[in-house]
Amino acid sequence: MVDTAHRNTGVDGVGGGVGLTALMVAAGRALEGGRHDSLARDDFAEHFVLAAPASAGWPVHPDQVPDGEANPLWGRFARYFGLRTRVFDDFLLQATHVGGARQVVLLGAGLDTRAFRLDWPAGCAVFEVDRPGVLAFKHQVLDGLSATPKATRIPVTTDLRDDWVGALTDAGFDPALPTAWLAEGLLFYLPAPAESQLMRVADKLSVRGSALAFEVKVDKDLWVYRDSSIYTATREQIGIDLLTLFDGSPRPDSAGDLADRGWSTLVQTPFDHSRRLGRGPLPVPNDALEGNRWVFAHKTHPYT
Ligand SMILES: C[S@@+](CC[C@H](N)C(=O)[O-])C[C@H]1O[C@@H](n2cnc3c(N)ncnc32)[C@H](O)[C@@H]1O
Repeated sequence: MVDTAHRNTGVDGVGGGVGLTALMVAAGRALEGGRHDSLARDDFAEHFVLAAPASAGWPVHPDQVPDGEANPLWGRFARYFGLRTRVFDDFLLQATHVGGARQVVLLGAGLDTRAFRLDWPAGCAVFEVDRPGVLAFKHQVLDGLSATPKATRIPVTTDLRDDWVGALTDAGFDPALPTAWLAEGLLFYLPAPAESQLMRVADKLSVRGSALAFEVKVDKDLWVYRDSSIYTATREQIGIDLLTLFDGSPRPDSAGDLADRGWSTLVQTPFDHSRRLGRGPLPVPNDALEGNRWVFAHKTHPYT
């Protein structure tokens, strides 16, 4: 029997396992910033890619991708990461500036540099939750750049398959304040019970006015798209076999779960946002992105 609860335990840093996917997303963001029509800009991203032995030789500028957009990994998949970054940037800025949240929790933060990139309201705290090895690498690179966060940035080292509430509250998280939560590129790596637990905890720790965005895959069978060019290129070009990193257990209906708990939920496809913004990936046959959904949930005030 496969030990899904701890299948990624072997590698803690960015050198392999699920940690290496954080570098892949960083490379996608670096490439996005170099596009003439970029959707998001992350000037830190290329520094992570250039610093890690595991990403030696990966491109950080579109000019370094000989087949450009035709490359399923560094073209279309990287653009997906650019689109996702932009959409969740907008979500968090809306949740803080307009919605009034003054705490942001990035679950599975990886090499996310929003604490440094985005203009946060005064008094905002950004908690970055990930495993120790990933955050240690991140700090090594950011320290070398003398990067200055634009909010109070609080790293929280923990494993989201375990009981992580204590780590978050010990780090100064205040459940009495409205919070903006984000689980971007995370949930499909977690065992289903850990995803359900995450929703329960986020709900319990969220007062009204809080918001939560997350990404899920709704495919009943992830292997349906096993020959998708995105999976094949990712495996062949950089040695990341996403299908073996994803947790294979049947997924919970987390959007439905939050709705049952009184949250308003909006479930959208990435393609909805490509169309809205006029750029980004659109559907293709045998598409690994087909089952991806982005969920935007709000714990609204009783009479709004
Ligand atoms: C694909 S990366 C996404 C990183 C970031 N959210 C982004 O979009 O740039 C997945 C991240 O989830 C983290 N992660 C996966 N499983 C985790 C776990 N059980 N506990 C904590 N972090 C985890 C990995 O270490 C990695 O940084």
